Parts: sequence; structure tokens; C-alpha cells
Amino acid sequence: MRYRNQEVNMLYIGVDLGTSAVKLLLMDETGNIQKIVSREYPLNFPQPGWSEQNPEDWYRQSIEGLKELLEDCDRSRVAGISFGGQMHGLVILDKEDAVIRPAILWNDGRTGEETNYLNQVIGKEKLSAYTANIAFAGFTAPKVLWVKKNEPENFARIEKIMLPKDYLAYRLSGVFCTDVSDASGMLLFDVKNKCWSKEMMEICGVKESQLARIFESYEAVGTLKPELAAELGLSPSVKIAAGAGDNAAAAVGTGTVGDGSCNISLGTSGTIFISSKNFGVDQNNALHAFAHADGHFHLMGCMLSAASCNKWWMEEILKTGDYTKEQERIQKLGKNPVFFLPYLMGERSPHNNPNARGTFMGMTMDTTREDMTQAVLEGVSFALRDSFEVAKSLGIHIERTKICGGGAKSPLWKQMIADILNIKVDILESEEGPALGGAMLAAVACGEYATVEEAAARIVKVVDTVEPDPERAMLYEKQYQKFRQIYPTVKELFDVIQP
Ligand code: XUL
Repeated sequence: MRYRNQEVNMLYIGVDLGTSAVKLLLMDETGNIQKIVSREYPLNFPQPGWSEQNPEDWYRQSIEGLKELLEDCDRSRVAGISFGGQMHGLVILDKEDAVIRPAILWNDGRTGEETNYLNQVIGKEKLSAYTANIAFAGFTAPKVLWVKKNEPENFARIEKIMLPKDYLAYRLSGVFCTDVSDASGMLLFDVKNKCWSKEMMEICGVKESQLARIFESYEAVGTLKPELAAELGLSPSVKIAAGAGDNAAAAVGTGTVGDGSCNISLGTSGTIFISSKNFGVDQNNALHAFAHADGHFHLMGCMLSAASCNKWWMEEILKTGDYTKEQERIQKLGKNPVFFLPYLMGERSPHNNPNARGTFMGMTMDTTREDMTQAVLEGVSFALRDSFEVAKSLGIHIERTKICGGGAKSPLWKQMIADILNIKVDILESEEGPALGGAMLAAVACGEYATVEEAAARIVKVVDTVEPDPERAMLYEKQYQKFRQIYPTVKELFDVIQP
């Protein structure tokens, strides 16, 4: 409770280390957003299905972004910095702290062999007992095995294994740390007991000294390095809090904390996130069972391409940046004969198939541009419903959800989510999920709020609700029943058409 009830009004910074850009957000102690800046960096696809980034780009753009964010503010008021970060990425450092190879990201599908080895030879039951999860191509442990097999000289040099946002925290504070939510996605972490899994370390040939110290997301790991504090004009007593994986941070920023709340993120990835006070595992492991940034747990389904499908369709195929104009022309809600499987980077939840690919189906000579655009938005929504159905099959009852991410800016898409999942969609005053969540975690670490739940209750405000339209919900129910038959029917072909 360091700053609470004191006269000084403190400021907190949330850093959302995303896949296409880093977004930095400045929040005051009451949760008002003062400023947001964003800096892009390249995303490289060196081979089909591979996805890499350069950690130095994250750092450089974050520092430049911080400078811009702080331009006109009273820097002496800044008390804490924390993060939401793209999850699962593998960052490896040698003993000089040099990055050994480009980071292998969450949406990289190169580890098909390693994932099969883990799930089939080690076995899903053992993996689930050790970590509460099974292997998915994007998780960190299969990537460690991939480097071990394909780049033994790099593997031999590994001194530290990190997640993307933890690399930033390390550069900012000098502390080799991670948090429970992000560590959950490594498949090296025993989620139930919140510690590294000895069995998984052995399976992957990793020593505990190569893994970071684990913190709760809202704990301070240290302070800003003095030389960096001087460069940024900040006090060296600024606290660095551990932060969270971007989905857990987004859940904090949308108030999806405590028991039984739901958040949908329509970002590069698409996720459905269900908070829970208690640890629980989906027996089929289609949903991830991870620790939450509020000190508890969550279940999550993650599709690899969500708003990115729409971006691809608009910018790469239609060659337009005017998303609103394209969506205004859409007329046939619930009656589109065209279907789209949104598996442009393979798929994680619930199919776990890195070979799955994007697929249009149902076109005729009178199919229009609008039908195709609509099919893309609907395909992403139907695929989210696939994970929603898994949650329902576990007895979880979801009546309403929050929503965030770039796709949530589209009123049409929000209505589609409400109609296709047949749930209420609560609209928030701020849709800045992970960046706001990061700033809130920093505020908790500095004692501004006693708990993450208290911060969420005081800061997050619902301003509107999109209700499902009963007639369209019925039409979409029929459409979804058709959609869900397409993947199992074409599944084998995805292996056949592999180049
Ligand atoms: C979650 C996941 C993605 C990334 C996106 O499991 O892989 O949502 O975190 O940044």
C-alpha cells in the first residue's frame, strides 16, 4: 500500500508486446488512460508456416515508444511498468546475454514432429499430468526440442530460455524472471503447483538454471536499471512488475478476473478466455489450462489467425485499407452460402493441426466480394465457437463475454460474435486489453490496489451490451452446424496438399 491515500498521483505504464507492434499505454492511478503510442516491427516468415522476430527490434521499438509516451508527462510521477506479451515464443541467450537466433513465435508451425513425439511417444496423459496441458506446435517446449535437433550448435550455447515479454523485463531490470500465466504456455511449467516441471525439463534436455525465476504477474521483480532510468528521465526506483501473457493481461484489462468471466480477443490470434478461481483441466486438453494473472487460473482456446484473416483478405487480396466500407456492403447475415476455414497459419484450438490451411467453400458464379468478406468474418467467429462448444461440453455456462483486440473495433463483427455464440457481448469503455492490463498489474505491484480483482472492479467499465438477435442466432445455428462438418471432411487433404 505504498502510494494509496497519499497526495502524489502516480502513473503506470503498460507495454503490450504484440506480434505486429508494441503498444505502450500510460495510465493514471485511477485507471484513466493518458496516452497510447504504438511502434511496429517486422514479422518474418522464412519458410511457409515459420514465424520469427528479432528480439532486438522489440527492445529498440519499446524504448523509442517509451520516449514518445513520456514526452509531455511529469516523469517523476511514473511509479511502475509492466507487460502483456505475445506468448510461447522461444528467446534463447548465450552466456554473454547475446540472442542466439531469431525468436520462434507462438504462430510458428515448424514443430510438427516434436509435437507428435511429445503427444504420442511421451504421451498426452503424462504431459497433462506434468503440466496440465498437451503439446501444441506453438508451445515453447517443442521449439526447444526443434533447436536441439536441428541447430545443435545453438542448443549447446543456451544459457537462458525466455519468453518475449520476459526478454524486455530482463533488458529493463536485469532480472531473469517470468510470470505464472506466460510460463503456463511453455509446457515446461507445472501449472497446478506453479513451479517448473522436473519431468519436462528432463524430456527437453533443459536445466532449471536455464529457466527464469517465477513470479505472480502482479509482483515486482525489481527496478529500472539506473542507466536506462537516466536515458528515459525516470527515477531508478520505478518498479518493474512481472506482467502476464497477452491473453491474461487482456483479461485483466477487460475485468475478466475471479470466477466464471469470459473474454474474447480478436487480435492477430483469436482467443476465448474463461477465468476460474480453481485449477481445472479440460480432460481432452482441447482448451489450455493456465494460471491467471489475478493469482488464480483460466481455461483458454486459441485460434492462430483471427483479425489477421481479415487483414490478409482486405490488404493482401482485396488491396484495400477501408475495412468499414467493405463491411458496410454486407447484407446476408445468417444466410451466406460461402464458408471460410480460417486456418491460414494452421490451427491450434481445438484441432491442433499445423497443416490445416485457409479454405473457401460454396462459391457460385453469383458470389460477390461482400459474400467473401462476410465469410472471412463469419469463419473466424465459427472457429471461436468451436472452442466455446468445448467449454460448454465441460459444463461451463457462459451467458456473456467481454471483447477486445483490433477486430473488436468492428460493430458488425461484435454483432456476429453475439449472434453466432448466442451470448451477450459487453462493450467496454476501453478496449485496450493487454496494454491496460499491463498498467493495472504495475499499479497492483506498486500497492495502488490491494489485488488485481480490486483494480479491475475500480477501473474497468462496461458502457454498452450487444445482445444476440434471436432470429439471426437461429439462422447462424444452422450455418454453424454446416461449418463444423467442413474441417473433419477435408482434414486428410491438408496433409495431401502439403508442398
Ligand atoms: C495464446 C497465443 C496467442 C499469442 C498472441 O496461447 O498463442 O494468443 O499470445 O500474441
